[in-house]
Amino acid sequence: MTALCSQGNERMDKIIIEGSQRLKGELEISGAKNAVLPVMAAMILTAGLNKITGVPRVRDVTTMLHLLNDLGGRTEEFEEDRISLDTTDINNYEAPYDLVSTMRASCLVLGPLLARLGKAKVSLPGGCAIGARPLDLHIRGLEAMGAEIKLEKGYIYGSVERLQGTRYYFDTVSVTGTANLMMAATLAEGETVLENVAKEPEVVFLADVLNKCGAKIEGQGTDIMVIQGVSALKPIECRIFPDRIETGTYMIASAITGGDVNIINCIPSQVETLTLKLRQAGVIVEEAATSIRVIGDGPFNGVNLKTQPHPGFATDLQAQFMALMTLARGQSIILETVFENRFMHAAELNRMGANITVQGHTAVVSGVKRLSGAPLMATDLRASASLVLAALAAEGESIISRVYHIDRGYFGMEKKLSRLGAKIRRKK
Ligand code: UD1
Repeated sequence: MTALCSQGNERMDKIIIEGSQRLKGELEISGAKNAVLPVMAAMILTAGLNKITGVPRVRDVTTMLHLLNDLGGRTEEFEEDRISLDTTDINNYEAPYDLVSTMRASCLVLGPLLARLGKAKVSLPGGCAIGARPLDLHIRGLEAMGAEIKLEKGYIYGSVERLQGTRYYFDTVSVTGTANLMMAATLAEGETVLENVAKEPEVVFLADVLNKCGAKIEGQGTDIMVIQGVSALKPIECRIFPDRIETGTYMIASAITGGDVNIINCIPSQVETLTLKLRQAGVIVEEAATSIRVIGDGPFNGVNLKTQPHPGFATDLQAQFMALMTLARGQSIILETVFENRFMHAAELNRMGANITVQGHTAVVSGVKRLSGAPLMATDLRASASLVLAALAAEGESIISRVYHIDRGYFGMEKKLSRLGAKIRRKK
């Protein structure tokens, strides 16, 4: 088995990019990070050997695997894109601060632990670069299911005899909130109705995977899900679908460099909103069954954009799209409605010569003729990706530090981009 955690060494890595190279060729998309993490947490609901393939080998997956092993799971295999994990002996119920603070998605174990062990101690993640991101919706939902929850010394302590079915309305659409309560409800007693749930493909996928294990979930992909609790679930066997945010990031990479990239192993319908926006800007996007060709032919125009829960424009692609808009003809108004502080990349892009003004939830991007390379600082996963995209298009050299953010969610980014002709390398 490959070493699970080697966090420390790569923290100082930098990515160096010599810009102004037109990307050309074919690029393959890896499995979806945000699909695999909840599926891994769902393994806690089972007692046996779980097997998943199509796993992207990114840092967040390693962190989740580490957490599952701490809880008493046993990794049987973690090779290439495969993970097998035996959950027979899950008996520990603590997700400690050092793991949760590096990956907020660790909170996905809260619902499954309460359902399986009747106990959970999960660190509160605290704020992060893109906003406060509380867990109040998760907590209130689990309380509605009969769990007793206490917040003490930065931890959520939960206990319950057996979770009970309930009716719960999410005041705000929450992706991991929906996943957490849905997972908990699969093993609860009776019927749970969840209203105003997330409709992201990753949530629908999780519901389908759980149903194959014996869960009774209906309504995934709509606003209301109804879950009939069962007494046990069979171990998971599934293949993770391609990452739509990685797909979108490389679509924008092709557009911003005036490139011609054929992106294979992707699901075009999952990035439709981005496709529409790119076309509106004047970028050529050709869709096939499992591939998308993006041609950045000539100048493109500024277009307005508003992030929203799925099927709206994904907040996880906002930063990358903003990088593109810095070089558009005219103005683009970008409204971020999902997170309250997700414009950290704007200041870095301005240091490259972009013209972005941020006020509250709105960024006004006035297109400039060129960007210039600069030393840059990555602040979160998707903001880092936007800096890479801007650096690919900029004149001269950019040095991006804190690239461990990129490693959390993009598998082999430098390799994938170099194969397309980018001059990109990592300095250890
Ligand atoms: C997930 C994704 C993340 C993406 C986000 C929005 C994973 C692992 N992560 O994050 O990549 O950017 O969806 O598409 O899938 N909120 C509350 N209280 C809560 C929970 C959320 O107020 O208890 C708020 C958040 O602060 C935010 C909004 O709800 O403003 C949406 O957040 P949410 O959908 O929960 O994001 P995550 O599930 O954390």
